[in-house]
Amino acid sequence: MPDAVEIFEVGPRDGLQNEARMIPAADKIALIDLLSGAGFRRIEVASFVSPKWVPQMADGAEVLAGIARAPGVSYAALTPNIRGYDGARAARADEVAIFASASEGFSKANLNATIIESLERFTPVVRAAGDHGMPVRGYVSCVTDCPFDGPVPPGDVAAVVSALRELGCYEISLGDTIGRGTSDAVDAMLDAVLGEMDAGRLAGHFHDTAGRALENVDVALARGLRVFDAAVGGLGGCPYAPGAAGNVATETLLAHLTAAGHATGLDADIIDRAAAMARAMQSA
Ligand code: HMG
Ligand code: MG
Repeated sequence: MPDAVEIFEVGPRDGLQNEARMIPAADKIALIDLLSGAGFRRIEVASFVSPKWVPQMADGAEVLAGIARAPGVSYAALTPNIRGYDGARAARADEVAIFASASEGFSKANLNATIIESLERFTPVVRAAGDHGMPVRGYVSCVTDCPFDGPVPPGDVAAVVSALRELGCYEISLGDTIGRGTSDAVDAMLDAVLGEMDAGRLAGHFHDTAGRALENVDVALARGLRVFDAAVGGLGGCPYAPGAAGNVATETLLAHLTAAGHATGLDADIIDRAAAMARAMQSA
């Protein structure tokens, strides 16, 4: 039996959020509709954040209203506060994600809040989600390096993972936001985090700025993680993380996992077409 690994497609959100040109909702919908037939179980399609902070994601409700929902696919949205949660729920997102940082510098830049303040804002989100049976995923950014504070101690990451677990996140995605993590740093971080949460409830989210994302996926696979976030076409970056490049490209990660004998259930032809479509949006 091949060892199964899930790729969580984040291209329509993390891939597109950083594009300077406003991409029409119809183009985002076309990309998501193509991805919906590729075999993903989860696709992150929108953010319900302040449109002043991330203008590209201002059309999340229109995007969620326009997609052709494939059975068995969960369409996810980022929600930084209860207002975002209400918007995501009204737009019929299937699951939401709250997103914290392991470093104070990035927390302030991305959320205008300290880590503690951000966790306080998430509390009503998870409470409402609990009432509605809405699954909540968690992100921790800057799990090895912060663009403002430098190297991040593994214990700081473990503390935020613990807080998000206590809030009730069903899975926590560990973000190398600026793609600078070395394999040693990722391994040390995982060593600390695995004391707080089982590998089966963790995901790896590696941006590929320094070209080490695949190495870091391998480190995480060896530690037992079996879910990885990726973006078709390798697009993206975070507007509040200077110098950050895109997520590891879905097509590159798929080829890497397949060569290593992992089963992903994904259709490589559709993903190649989606990658071309995403890249065309970037360069248009
Ligand atoms: P703030 O300015 O401190 O908050 O921002 P505020 O309450 O003063 O709100 C500012 C304005 O936004 C107000 O409008 C609010 O009404 C409005 P105004 O009165 O000025 O007209 N507002 C909202 N509008 C729509 N939806 C909302 C919402 N909330 C407030 N939910 C805030 C605080 C959290 C809102 C802001 O900092 C924000 O939106 N941040 C999001 C930044 C973001 O989306 N970053 C990218 C995603 S994270 C990422 O990419 C990392 C990840 O991929 C993992 C990794 O790689 O590490 C996940
Ligand atoms: Mg990211």
